[in-house]
Amino acid sequence: MAPQGARNPSGRRPQGLSPALTANPGSKTISEHPLQNKAALITGAGRGIGKALAYQLAKLGADLILTSRNLDALMRLSAQLRRRELCRVVEHACDVGEMESVEKLAAVIEHKFGRLDIVINNAGVGYSGVLFESEAEMVGRMLLTNLYGPYLVSRFCLPLVAVGGGGVVVNIVSQAGIEGSPGFAMYSATKQGLQTFSEALRLEMAEHNIRVLTVSPGMTRTSFYDRFLAGKCPAPMSYSDLMAPEEVADSIARALLDPDHGACPEITVRTDGPLQ
Ligand SMILES: NC(=O)c1ccc[n+]([C@@H]2O[C@H](COP(=O)([O-])OP(=O)(O)OC[C@H]3O[C@@H](n4cnc5c(N)ncnc54)[C@H](OP(=O)(O)O)[C@@H]3O)[C@@H](O)[C@H]2O)c1
Repeated sequence: MAPQGARNPSGRRPQGLSPALTANPGSKTISEHPLQNKAALITGAGRGIGKALAYQLAKLGADLILTSRNLDALMRLSAQLRRRELCRVVEHACDVGEMESVEKLAAVIEHKFGRLDIVINNAGVGYSGVLFESEAEMVGRMLLTNLYGPYLVSRFCLPLVAVGGGGVVVNIVSQAGIEGSPGFAMYSATKQGLQTFSEALRLEMAEHNIRVLTVSPGMTRTSFYDRFLAGKCPAPMSYSDLMAPEEVADSIARALLDPDHGACPEITVRTDGPLQ
């Protein structure tokens, strides 16, 4: 398995370097809690990749704001994190596809932390199925969650990063956003949209010292896989070959800590199996 590769297909200039997020800028030495006193928002933290990332960032010392629609899942997670780590954890239910909900989230973060350093746009849903069998309502929800959601979170939460002097936003895209395949047309479209949104944002946010990274995971062992199978699409790879969410979380954490990722802001995390 080759878990990580990094690419910079755009060849654009390095930008938005964030000394605020590097414990020892210019050095590869990383302290035990390099994200101490940094506040990180993770959307879709209730399960899967978001949950694995919550454990990872808590271990690195970050204070966390965890969101998803299911508050119970978040409360179970934050209780575990509080037992194991020293970080502050705030959980707040939010539907990233609804403007009022995201505005409320930003208000809660401002009230509790006053600022933000890291924003992870991870919440996402994936429905598969060929066009004539697709359910338009589900596809609408996917557009709201995967594309409008990261826009809303960026619109209302990134000012809290700018006000603190800068930081980093990570948008979770997908290999499926690079090349369309049957049964995944609209999922691919949402991820391709998020990719180009991120490229534009990268240029806009440079003046605010906000790095914009995209991370493209390959097929990962989460409830995503079950939903793809529910869409009657052939399984692209067997369950045992999927990556663990912890592998993806580890790559995201390393990208957050590495100032060189300002120069190489598009990260691919994949196995040697077929692209997803
Ligand atoms: N797994 C893969 O193979 C794979 C590959 C490439 C990219 N990705 C991307 O990775 C990200 C995480 O996926 P995952 O595999 O970890 O999926 P997952 O296990 O299904 O987790 C998705 C998370 O998003 C939350 N969520 C869904 N809709 C939401 C909404 N409207 N508002 C707020 N939160 C919402 C879910 O919680 P609630 O339902 O409680 O809201 C859940 O916590 C997604 O963006 C996905 O597209 C996954």
